[in-house]
Amino acid sequence: MSRTTARTYERFPLARRIEHWVMMLSFTTLAITGLPQRFSSAPFSIAFVGFLGGIETLRTIHHIAAIVMMLGTAWHILVFGYLAYVRRTRLTMIPTLQDVKDGWQALLYNIGRAKTPPQMGRYTFEEKLEYWAFVWGAIIMGLTGFMMWNPLSTTRFLPGEVIPAAKAAHGGEALLAVLAIIIWHMYGVHIRRLNKSMFTGRMSEEEMLHEHPLELADIKAGVAEHPVDPVTLRKRQRVYLPIATVLALFMLLGVYGFVSAEQTAITTVERQAPTVVVFVPWTPTPAPTQTPTPPATETPLPTASPNATQLAAGSTTPGTPASALTWDSSIGTLLQSKCISCHGPGALGGLDLSTYSDAMRGGASGPVIIPGDGANSLLVTRQQTGDHPGQLTPEEIAQVIEWIDAGALEK
Ligand code: HEC
Repeated sequence: MSRTTARTYERFPLARRIEHWVMMLSFTTLAITGLPQRFSSAPFSIAFVGFLGGIETLRTIHHIAAIVMMLGTAWHILVFGYLAYVRRTRLTMIPTLQDVKDGWQALLYNIGRAKTPPQMGRYTFEEKLEYWAFVWGAIIMGLTGFMMWNPLSTTRFLPGEVIPAAKAAHGGEALLAVLAIIIWHMYGVHIRRLNKSMFTGRMSEEEMLHEHPLELADIKAGVAEHPVDPVTLRKRQRVYLPIATVLALFMLLGVYGFVSAEQTAITTVERQAPTVVVFVPWTPTPAPTQTPTPPATETPLPTASPNATQLAAGSTTPGTPASALTWDSSIGTLLQSKCISCHGPGALGGLDLSTYSDAMRGGASGPVIIPGDGANSLLVTRQQTGDHPGQLTPEEIAQVIEWIDAGALEK
């Protein structure tokens, strides 16, 4: 491979680079849509959620990115199986004792206590740390994400408090992951030295010498890869293919179950109006002590808005049938004209019908008006027998019933 393009070495084939793109994009999307949920009261988060048209959209994008990352992870596992079983490549990402030694030497070198930096192979200890941090993070995020996505299934096996705990862990690990990418990854591959190999797929000899001298030495010695003869390769492929198929189906089913097992997320109720005035305090205005100043110098006072509940409900009291009849408008006058001679201050039968409050107080038998129940109010039943010393006409009784049914209002 280094013969055609002089002095560069293939580091990542296209498939690995596509994997990196998939992970990079899904991770970024998850971070952008996740952090506003983690810091939901921050002004930026509120603005961002508003910009996207609501938390539902944000959550949907977050979920789609999570599905992409889960599929990417499943693919990565299949690729790992292929490389490990079929190609039998060296498992260069596995941490070894040498990585600890390399880390220690790098530390000594950085503080000026060692003359040379560690000589490392295909993956440096920093790269391994980051890879395994990503694996660890993916496990945590996957597990806690599952718990939040499927709280009912989770709490069938675990106590309920794991759900808020999962939420806390998900947000905490997310913050850690984002900071790791910004600080550790950005520094490692962009700032300390711009490493474009994940996008170009190749590294120059000089870069190899600097970053991966042991791997370069292996490549030059022809021992970096184990060539597999085509017959063995096909034999192993025949074994791996069915296993990989079953594994793939299993993982796809897992992702499907993860995503569709439950419909538990509380759907946000659609907004009714952009702004609803729920409480308008009256402006404390001092009572006028003198005649108002002439209009020329008068500044208009802010008019206090009417009670919002009244606005919302209209002019009638909710729950009662509408009626224009009130004590003040007609009923009071009617009863006074027909009954006051006996049910005035003299209060025959203990009943005084002079005023609204007197009438509501009732007579010797107790209340004579049961608001909302005209048919059973004593005032009506007494009149309906038709033999009372003071008698209302049937039309007037009907009016009284209508008034009581509507709540027997004074005004
Ligand atoms: C001529 C006198 C007279 C007039 C007019 C009169 N009532 Fe009476 N009312 C009485 C007397 C006496 C009693 C007490 C004896 C009884 O319970 O029948 C009474 C009792 C009542 C009671 C029962 C009070 C209680 O708590 O026991 C009701 C209700 C009543 N009147 C309604 C009316 C209404 C309504 C009118 C007007 C349309 C009216 N009355 C006009 C004489 C009158």
